[in-house]
Amino acid sequence: MLRRTVLASMAASLAAPALADTYPSKPINLIVPFAAGGPTDLMARIVGERMAKELGQQFIIDNTTGAAGSIAVGKAARAAPDGYTVQIGHVGTNVANGTIYKNLTYDLLTDLVPIARLPQNPMLIVSSNQLPAKTLKELVAYLKANPDKVPGGTAGMGSGSHLGALAFFAATGVTYQLVPYRGTGPAMQDLMANQIQVMVDQSSNSLPQVQAGKVRAYGITAKARSAAAPDIPTAAEGGFPMEVSIWHGLWAPKGTPADIVARLNKAAIASLQDPAIRKRLEELGQDIPTPAEMAPPAFASFQKEEYARWKKILEAANVKVE
Ligand code: MLT
Repeated sequence: MLRRTVLASMAASLAAPALADTYPSKPINLIVPFAAGGPTDLMARIVGERMAKELGQQFIIDNTTGAAGSIAVGKAARAAPDGYTVQIGHVGTNVANGTIYKNLTYDLLTDLVPIARLPQNPMLIVSSNQLPAKTLKELVAYLKANPDKVPGGTAGMGSGSHLGALAFFAATGVTYQLVPYRGTGPAMQDLMANQIQVMVDQSSNSLPQVQAGKVRAYGITAKARSAAAPDIPTAAEGGFPMEVSIWHGLWAPKGTPADIVARLNKAAIASLQDPAIRKRLEELGQDIPTPAEMAPPAFASFQKEEYARWKKILEAANVKVE
């Protein structure tokens, strides 16, 4: 009996190709938690386009916005775990929201499986060109003279630009109004039009507009200046030390087969090892993780550490959405 069973299972494994051998056999849905034209959408398109070449199938971008990405992550968590739904997100959507939103319908750390860590970027403290301040000290003085009156952009409670704003408030002791958008792509349009006047935004979104002279930068939220923006001083040089960077990642619904996760991870690594992709990302101020840091187990540990770190920060600041 045992011999026949062993032979039968051998025959079956020889006959049916491993799942990943035929995967992907159709386009893959890539859920993006913010509006088109913002930093997460940009990351999805830059990295996704090169991943598609590696996989031989296109990604279909699905910008699902709302609640700083919580709607999108819920959609990903409920998707079929067949490898045809992938979610891009960041420290806000897949870490901070787990502390901030009290009624999430999913568990961020167990209902999604990490596929690969993606690049991270520091943030720029930026304003519309019409604001009278020319230095970070002058910006802080202006905000102090107009407490909670200056409209500032975020992509909702828990978004990267909200975490950036919280870090700015803690470092400077001043605040601005948090005007929520469906992403910092649309928020940047309003900043350039002076509809809002200040924002702490990922360098990948704000640096091109600073370089085009369309908005003003006061500082970068990093230990050192960025090679992509050597003229922008650090917040510390401006008198207000603050460090916050927004890392991105890819996830799939729990239950997605490990060999499919491995296949997607391999394509993500190939994408970030491509010199043209690396150049494009570095020009936007992005720091690219190593293949070892991108491995699913390493990324899962990193996400858990970040979850604990941000939980402490956000609970201490009593940031929550009931
Ligand atoms: C975006 O892509 O719009 C940003 O990631 C929003 C944010 O997190 O600030």
